[in-house]
Amino acid sequence: MAQAMIGRPIQDIDTPALLVDYTILERNIQRLQKLSEDARLAVRPHMKAHKTPQVAHIQLRAGAIGLTCAKIAEAEAMADAGVDELLIANSIVGETKMRRLVALAKRVPRLLVAVESLVSAAQIDAAFCARGMTIDTVIELDIGSHRAGVLPESAVEFARGLAEYGALNTVGVMGYAGGLMYGARTEEERLEAAAEEGRRLGAVAAELRAAGFRIDIISGGGTPTAGRYREGCGLTEVRCGTYCLNDHNQVDLGACTVEDVAATVLSTVVAVPADDRIIIDAGTKSLDQAVGPLTEGYGWVKGHEGGNVHKINDEHGYIDRKRLVGDLQIGQKVEIIPPRICTCLNLYDGMYVFEGDRVVDVWRITARGANQ
Ligand SMILES: Cc1ncc(COP(=O)(O)O)c(C=O)c1O
Repeated sequence: MAQAMIGRPIQDIDTPALLVDYTILERNIQRLQKLSEDARLAVRPHMKAHKTPQVAHIQLRAGAIGLTCAKIAEAEAMADAGVDELLIANSIVGETKMRRLVALAKRVPRLLVAVESLVSAAQIDAAFCARGMTIDTVIELDIGSHRAGVLPESAVEFARGLAEYGALNTVGVMGYAGGLMYGARTEEERLEAAAEEGRRLGAVAAELRAAGFRIDIISGGGTPTAGRYREGCGLTEVRCGTYCLNDHNQVDLGACTVEDVAATVLSTVVAVPADDRIIIDAGTKSLDQAVGPLTEGYGWVKGHEGGNVHKINDEHGYIDRKRLVGDLQIGQKVEIIPPRICTCLNLYDGMYVFEGDRVVDVWRITARGANQ
């Protein structure tokens, strides 16, 4: 990465490049921490959105209790960065994964793993028992997303099944209410989605406690409802991920404003071949194809009204010149707000961190592509 860019204007960066506004990043992290602490909730941010040690350490310095990862490879990258509490929030299966999970547990002071099947539980148990080790587990619940997870009505029976595996200590429950959170369109609906999520997870936790299980952790949360949980909502912690950088999807959902978006893709106008289009050097390989439920197009030109990237090919992005207020010239560099930062960021080796108009640092995205 171009460390030589430090101190130079962002306009000097070659394109396409991922930019992160340090001031906005830090403000987003501190805001969620404060709102969560006010609601007596711990913060265990999901690192899938940033995949970067420096961002993880800003979150930890702000008060996060640890980080959440989806993949073992992401957790390995965070362990390399010295993070000492990690939750792997996805179901882990397979012999190779078991070996890596054990190796990880040996070097992370507190490693937790989500379990949602007795198949996974049996494999984890066998791997840890063989080395005389134990591991803390949280039961992943399906609280309405119909992704993975144990159904709430089967949670007690499942916990009893888990109790048969001596290497597993059940310490909590987790759920991801994607449908609820991302289905909310108004502030009122987001507040209600947060409350409903808390009720659903809290109810299962209460049942498990009544059945004699130790449930210390009740883990939920995501970005649309970030900072919208109330004290006593039923959760003990939130695992928001996207909130630190934000993206156009979150703006369109109403979860944040454009001023809260910390990450953009710097791109150059490379052609203005006709009066209906402007072509930039960022396509699917630089912006990604993912769009949110309400997001129109594949990116928005920051500060240029109507600047919608309405079509992309591998190396080209098309801006609708007729909708754009004003014009763009060949050679001009523009910042594009991507629809989904999570998958867009995964396309970059590093991020140029800036304050004002100057690059202040270049951070390597060490868990980029860490999908195993
Ligand atoms: C299990 C889990 N927790 C937390 C998150 C973070 O959600 P968000 O990106 O909405 O902040 C995700 C996102 O997919 C997730 O799958």
